[in-house]
Amino acid sequence: MRADEQSGPPANESVSADTRQTRSFPDYVTGDECLFCHRRQIGPTWQSNPHQRTVRRATPDDHAVRALRNRTGDSADFLMGSKRLIRFLRRSRQYGKLDLLTAVYRPPGAHGRLESVQNRRWDSEKFAAQCAGCHTTAVDSQTGAFAATGLDCFVCHGDVDLAHTNDTRHIFLSQTRREPRPVVSVCGQCHLRGGKSRRTGRPWPDTFLPGEELSADFEVDFSDAAIAALHPMDRHIFLNARAVLIDGDETTTCLSCHEVHAADSAKHESLNDGALCAVCHRADSGGGDLRESLLPDNVLEEHSEICEY
Ligand code: HEC
Ligand code: HEC
Ligand code: HEC
Ligand code: HEC
Ligand code: HEC
Ligand code: HEC
Repeated sequence: MRADEQSGPPANESVSADTRQTRSFPDYVTGDECLFCHRRQIGPTWQSNPHQRTVRRATPDDHAVRALRNRTGDSADFLMGSKRLIRFLRRSRQYGKLDLLTAVYRPPGAHGRLESVQNRRWDSEKFAAQCAGCHTTAVDSQTGAFAATGLDCFVCHGDVDLAHTNDTRHIFLSQTRREPRPVVSVCGQCHLRGGKSRRTGRPWPDTFLPGEELSADFEVDFSDAAIAALHPMDRHIFLNARAVLIDGDETTTCLSCHEVHAADSAKHESLNDGALCAVCHRADSGGGDLRESLLPDNVLEEHSEICEY
């Protein structure tokens, strides 16, 4: 099936190999093909997973879409974001790209509000240059064109070999293949917000393939000063990534605490990693028992300059 029938913008514009400085992605197996076999175990939660939904079709009954239409008469083809901020996108005149509206919708749901409506405009450059690499799948860093809206299985599991059906060592992130460095690298390609590609200068790594080492192209400031300046939600990610990628301490990874498909972090509560716990929990309260400890307000009110929320 063609990407433009399924999820909006068409597949990558082809760029001939000899004119480009960067690598290109392989023709990966798409999520529809994976879900043909994995529909029972993965399918039900995948439709609502924030990774899959991060850039999705705008439906007329969505609160943000309605607010935009009623107030301005504008319409959007896609929405981006969920809990903290929603952005509007429309198909660009340039093939395989999207324009980003400067006006934004601040959730929750029907109680949200439209902001920056005056002087709003559709920006044709920003999404491709500053956002696409972490919010869409298989982005060509040079043109900003992408293969699918939202994040497909490929961004985490890579180019999957069908031999994995008999031997799960053939697929990255299976129970049998979750080595700490590649795990932190694969999550870090998007979650280490503030890093920069050496090859392209973009804020995401160039043509990163799951299983690879992030540091080959992605430059991240892991200094104490840089980490101290981050919001706690970003700080715990940088601290964990620094421990694994720089200090070689592989005891804890993102997967010690997070389950991506269940979208759940409950298992973090029984982990023992004091330095990381203290990023979010106030260690001095409740006599050291985290069950009694407080979460300062700023932990849950996340902000990000890169994502403009
Ligand atoms: C380096 C990768 C990266 C880049 C570049 C990036 N984002 Fe994000 N974005 C993320 C990640 C990771 C999250 C999820 C953060 C979280 O939940 O803690 C996110 C979340 C968001 C959200 C959702 C917030 C919410 O919870 O509702 C919005 C909206 C957003 N980004 C917009 C943008 C825009 C606009 C740009 C470009 C100007 C951009 N992002 C560039 C990685 C990136
Ligand atoms: C954002 C990263 C990410 C994306 C995208 C992703 N996965 Fe996963 N997947 C993981 C991780 C991490 C695990 C390990 C278990 C967990 O965290 O849920 C996993 C585990 C699995 C498993 C094994 C389940 C188990 O019980 O161990 C299957 C099957 C799977 N993924 C299929 C898919 C399919 C199919 C897609 C696309 C429709 C997909 N994944 C997209 C990260 C991802
Ligand atoms: C032809 C059917 C088929 C297709 C297509 C398929 N898988 Fe699988 N997959 C299986 C079978 C069978 C297993 C092994 C049994 C199991 O664990 O479910 C498996 C195992 C896995 C595992 C490891 C589960 C574990 O035990 O840790 C992951 C992750 C996974 N598949 C992801 C994917 C992704 C991502 C795609 C698409 C790129 C995909 N699969 C396509 C049939 C398929
Ligand atoms: C290709 C980019 C990308 C990769 C790879 C990626 N993420 Fe994300 N992740 C995002 C974006 C973007 C969001 C925010 C989605 C939104 O709300 O619009 C997000 C959201 C999240 C959230 C918050 C979801 C929620 O329920 O609120 C967690 C936790 C998370 N990611 C963990 C991981 C882990 C662990 C990995 C590695 C296995 C990973 N991510 C890999 C881009 C990525
Ligand atoms: C020690 C446990 C632990 C480790 C290790 C860890 N996290 Fe987290 N993380 C948490 C907890 C707990 C939360 C907050 C719970 C929530 O919001 O559901 C969180 C929140 C997040 C969020 C924001 C979720 C939101 O609300 O938008 C993202 C994104 C995230 N983690 C990604 C990662 C990535 C990527 C790694 C690996 C580099 C990682 N985490 C390592 C425990 C951990
Ligand atoms: C990124 C922020 C973050 C980190 C790091 C973190 N926590 Fe949490 N923790 C939370 C949030 C947010 C909650 C509220 C429940 C939820 O959403 O999971 C929570 C809840 C808890 C709870 C349950 C408290 C209750 O009242 O139910 C325990 C216990 C806990 N954390 C222990 C830990 C331990 C142990 C560590 C270190 C291994 C840790 N946390 C690291 C954010 C974090």
